[in-house]
Amino acid sequence: MSGSQSPKDFFRPLAVGAPTPLTEIPARPSRAIHFFDPSNLKMAAKIPDMVGTVDVLLGNLEDAVKADNKVAAREGLVKIATETSFGPTQLWTRINSLDSPWALDDLTTLVPAIGDKLDVIMVPKVQGAEDIHYVDRLLAQLEAKAGLTRPILVHAILETARGVANVEEICGASPRMQGLSLGPADLAADRRMKTTRVGGGHPGYLVRQDPPKNELDVTDYDAARATYQQDLWHYTIARMVDACAMHGIYPYYGPFGDIADVVACEDQFRNAFLLGCVGTWSLHPKQIAIANRVFSPSVEDVAHARRVAAAMGDGTGAVMLDGKMEDDASLKQCLVMVELAEQLAAIDPELKKAYDAIEEA
Ligand code: GLV
Ligand code: MG
Repeated sequence: MSGSQSPKDFFRPLAVGAPTPLTEIPARPSRAIHFFDPSNLKMAAKIPDMVGTVDVLLGNLEDAVKADNKVAAREGLVKIATETSFGPTQLWTRINSLDSPWALDDLTTLVPAIGDKLDVIMVPKVQGAEDIHYVDRLLAQLEAKAGLTRPILVHAILETARGVANVEEICGASPRMQGLSLGPADLAADRRMKTTRVGGGHPGYLVRQDPPKNELDVTDYDAARATYQQDLWHYTIARMVDACAMHGIYPYYGPFGDIADVVACEDQFRNAFLLGCVGTWSLHPKQIAIANRVFSPSVEDVAHARRVAAAMGDGTGAVMLDGKMEDDASLKQCLVMVELAEQLAAIDPELKKAYDAIEEA
């Protein structure tokens, strides 16, 4: 919330006739945000068939779309959105950055044309609350002019050092804030990290086991020692998760560029899931399946969570289950899992079947 504004005004529309801001961001499943380039006709043609197979389809207008194709991408997105019925699948877009020659036209074209279909607008390279305030007011004006009845939500990509430093104020800058994604590629460049990848780890970022002693009790620095690769993104994801949780919005991992390395992709996604993220980006159809698997609680976890909930009765006190102490804090963790499983089961019939099949202990 910005300094001089009264809390009472925070949920008033920023333009006469604009829809009333939401006081709570709906928890809609968004395990995979699948990116497509609307200027790529082959890719665009596949979109109608992808409805229902992925939680979020995102028409990307920013990086990865060539400068010469920016207008075609914008117009392509309008065409696809107009002609497609999205059913339970959310439609998002990523507009160009606010300092680019395209961002203004992105917003002034998309909102009147397809504002009723757009659930979330992803804003890249967000630096601070001022970027969100700018988009917030402009969206309100455009929504009012277009007669929209539902506010379009805003999602910021955390991909500049200043953005990370301001992460809490970004999350709290507007009731439109739906969530944050990590942008590891731009963030690495902006921070002057010495990597050349789009997300994922790096073999040089590691810790090494201490040197052992030899038979003479002398430290043997030449002995073989195990090394363990560390997660370059742990700090940023952890900050992002706290900032989002504090403001009741949702954190996401971001792009994993090595499409062929499905194993490391799954690991990176799972780390984010375990730390509190609700989803990730998909840059290739095969990453959708990975994301759906990783960001859905496992049958084993749901079974355990339900068992703890049943054993804890009214939720107070403590019980022993399989030699482990459970109390209201572990119950709360289990309820996060149970609630997420229920939300996902409501939109994913296969998961519903798997969760329904769990035998109550
Ligand atoms: C995503 O936009 C990134 O820069 O990683
Ligand atoms: Mg980026």
